[in-house]
Amino acid sequence: MNIATIRRKFITFFEQKGHTFVPGVPIIQQDNPSLLFINAGMNPFSNIFLGNEKPSVPRAVNSQPCLRVTGKHNDLEEVGIDTYHHTLFEMLGNWSFGDYFKKEAIANAWELITEIYKIPKENIYVTVFEGDKEDGLDADKETFDLWKNYVSDKHILYANKKDNFWEMGATGPCGPCTEIHVDLRNKKEKKAQPGHTLVNNDHPQVIEIWNLVFIQYHRQANGNLSPLPKCHVDTGMGLERLAMVLQGKKATYDTDAFQPLIQAIATLADTAYGQNEKKDIALRVVADHLRAITFAIADGASPSNQQAGYVIRRLLRRAVRYAYQYLDLKEPFLHTLVPTLIENMQDAYPQLATQQPLLSKLILQEETNFLRTLAQGLRRFEHFRTHLQNKTLGGKEAFQLYDTYGFPLDLTVLLAQEQGLHVDTEGFQQEMTQQKNRSKQVAEKNYGDWQKVHSDKKKSHFVGYDQLDTMSLLLTYRMVQQQEKTQYQLVLDQTPFYPQGGGQVGDTGYLLFGNEKVAILDTRKEEGMIIHISNHLPKDLHSPIQAVIDQEKRRSTANNHTATHLLEAALKHILGKHVAQRGSYLDAQRLRFDFTHPEKLTTEQCEAIEALVNEKIRANIPRIEERDLPFSQAQAKGATTLIGETYGEKVRVITFDPSFSIALCGGTHANATGQLGFFKIISTASVAAGIRRIEAVTAQEAEKWVRHTHRKMTQIATLLRQPQDVVHAIENLQKAYKKEQKTVAQYQKKALQQIRQTIESHIQTKGKQTIAITQIEIETVEDFRKVMRPLHQQYDNLILILAAKVDNKPYIATMVSDPSHDAKKIAQELSAPIQGQVNGQATFAIIHGTKIEGLSKAMAAAKKKYLS
Ligand code: SER
Repeated sequence: MNIATIRRKFITFFEQKGHTFVPGVPIIQQDNPSLLFINAGMNPFSNIFLGNEKPSVPRAVNSQPCLRVTGKHNDLEEVGIDTYHHTLFEMLGNWSFGDYFKKEAIANAWELITEIYKIPKENIYVTVFEGDKEDGLDADKETFDLWKNYVSDKHILYANKKDNFWEMGATGPCGPCTEIHVDLRNKKEKKAQPGHTLVNNDHPQVIEIWNLVFIQYHRQANGNLSPLPKCHVDTGMGLERLAMVLQGKKATYDTDAFQPLIQAIATLADTAYGQNEKKDIALRVVADHLRAITFAIADGASPSNQQAGYVIRRLLRRAVRYAYQYLDLKEPFLHTLVPTLIENMQDAYPQLATQQPLLSKLILQEETNFLRTLAQGLRRFEHFRTHLQNKTLGGKEAFQLYDTYGFPLDLTVLLAQEQGLHVDTEGFQQEMTQQKNRSKQVAEKNYGDWQKVHSDKKKSHFVGYDQLDTMSLLLTYRMVQQQEKTQYQLVLDQTPFYPQGGGQVGDTGYLLFGNEKVAILDTRKEEGMIIHISNHLPKDLHSPIQAVIDQEKRRSTANNHTATHLLEAALKHILGKHVAQRGSYLDAQRLRFDFTHPEKLTTEQCEAIEALVNEKIRANIPRIEERDLPFSQAQAKGATTLIGETYGEKVRVITFDPSFSIALCGGTHANATGQLGFFKIISTASVAAGIRRIEAVTAQEAEKWVRHTHRKMTQIATLLRQPQDVVHAIENLQKAYKKEQKTVAQYQKKALQQIRQTIESHIQTKGKQTIAITQIEIETVEDFRKVMRPLHQQYDNLILILAAKVDNKPYIATMVSDPSHDAKKIAQELSAPIQGQVNGQATFAIIHGTKIEGLSKAMAAAKKKYLS
């Protein structure tokens, strides 16, 4: 059974058991700051489990790519070292949303693995939650008894909270779980050691394949568990591990999920897989990481220095380093593997193929960048290693590797581990914090618990498409502390406030609690809730609220959102259909739009784009808004969807001229395009390889921009005395200036020569020594060096002491080519009369004086000492 068949059989089995197939979501969660990546198939359903959202179906099944590299679920360290962990893997899952529970979940799982996948029953072990005192939870005897219907007691093991109580993160839905393990060893090995002793013991041939979680609780911020209104089932089975079992392989890396890629890397590195353990690890790591990087970029992320972007960068650098040191791949190579990867996966993930050029370009740019500093960084690491006092690499050193050579901390830790060393990661974090403080970056937030006012439910109804103010009630609120600052997050039962999303900023405005006004500084979406952010709480939390948004800001923001849609349509029209959005930000002032396009935009292209958008504005096209359109119908209309965005079954579609712009969008828009007045691109740039950025303004901001630019032009014309053609006049000026500069340089050269002659006319010889002590006239302090250096080269045993007044300040410069004298010392002796400070070294020094009257006294002293 190949990967595709195994996946299909899982989905069909559960469809036949009344489950609906729900497509997986992109692994990058654009609008969810609490979850950088999808790390479990249940993530998209967590609001349903918590009771904040109604499920559209009672049972669901899917296959979901997951990335486990950060936070609670992080397998990075094991990847490649062992033969069955991955950063990116596919999770097959089935879900019951308050429908069936333990009995049916276990019965289904058993039927699938023994009858469809035909895993021999005697190879199967299951684990059950043993209970936990701290959480006040008993052992899951019910599950134990249910399993007894299928396997003997010997194959059912109790296990602790670490292995058998599943939690999504520090907070969120959770519950006891039961895991299915398979013993893949041969008869002899089994006889020598019974399988049950190896379960949960990191044995590569006795591995967990499926986790059935019984979601019953909500882990609160204070650590307590509160029961959920309904019990749910969440299961997750690693597709690659299942393939390993069903294909009779010893490692996931030996299955058809990985082999084509591993073979391709081995060919590039002129080696073969399975010959040398160190090389094999590197081959596995590179294959694993490349899959993760490619999926993440295809789902909308770009390598960067923060958040999800930095995780991708870290993975890529880790892969490059493994290849560099163990596979002798010292040139960029990862990008050449993208086609192989895509060929292998495009049936299930067609979005990869359409983005191939961008994926290859971005990866090439990233590896090229890192290879620039990798060799030097490795030498630096070696230097640190050979100078260590003990077995720990200091935080400062690790930070230098990070800051100067781009070594992510985990890479340094890995390098250290390979040499039997530790890294002072705390020290590293301190350095990092210090740097962050220096650059005033945002510190961590601490959240208080939710405080119930009118309800525990945090579900608010958004009325902001139709209303700009509404009456409402406060459902619940919590405090958030960040450094010294305290803020409050308020959840209302209904609200006109648009929460930041789809590139559009959150609304601001105020809430009127009776007579008390609370300013709302921002609106965000978290865990499906609309959160209003304020700096203080009203006295009477229970009174009805009038919620009012800043209408002017909303109107300007809506203009910019509509302009963004028109811009995207115009880009596709002028540049081609390959243009895809890679990022968008818009507020009341301006809009920023990032998109894929291989080259720099020409002036003509920019002008054509602007002209097309403005044509659509003048046509005053009315907005057509369709809410709750089935997703399939929206797709049939050809609506633009976003990479990295998750869409429900029902979507909102915004159209401005059905033949021009149809887009899936949750944002707020102008009623008709005429409201935008005028559209002006104010800058274009390149963000990364293959990604361009346009910034633009509309309406009053565009008017301001034109006025400002026009005013500048008028000022420039006035300064140039109103020429016919300003550009031509400036070009002439530049030419004239260049000519003048040449002339000035010639004069300067001559002047300096004359000064040198003057100095030479003062030269006296005293014994073996050549000495000149005199006052000269120069324009800048720099000229000292210019006149003195040629003399220094010309004469041996020279002592030069020159005085000058520059900008009415006294200076004395000393220069010696006689090793028995020291220019700095001479200067120090002479500094007192002009009350000066000495800078310089043994061959050249300058006194920056303050007392001009002392200059002749100092020079007289010099003459007395060196000439008489
Ligand atoms: N949420 C569980 C896991 O990720 C089962 O899907 O293992």
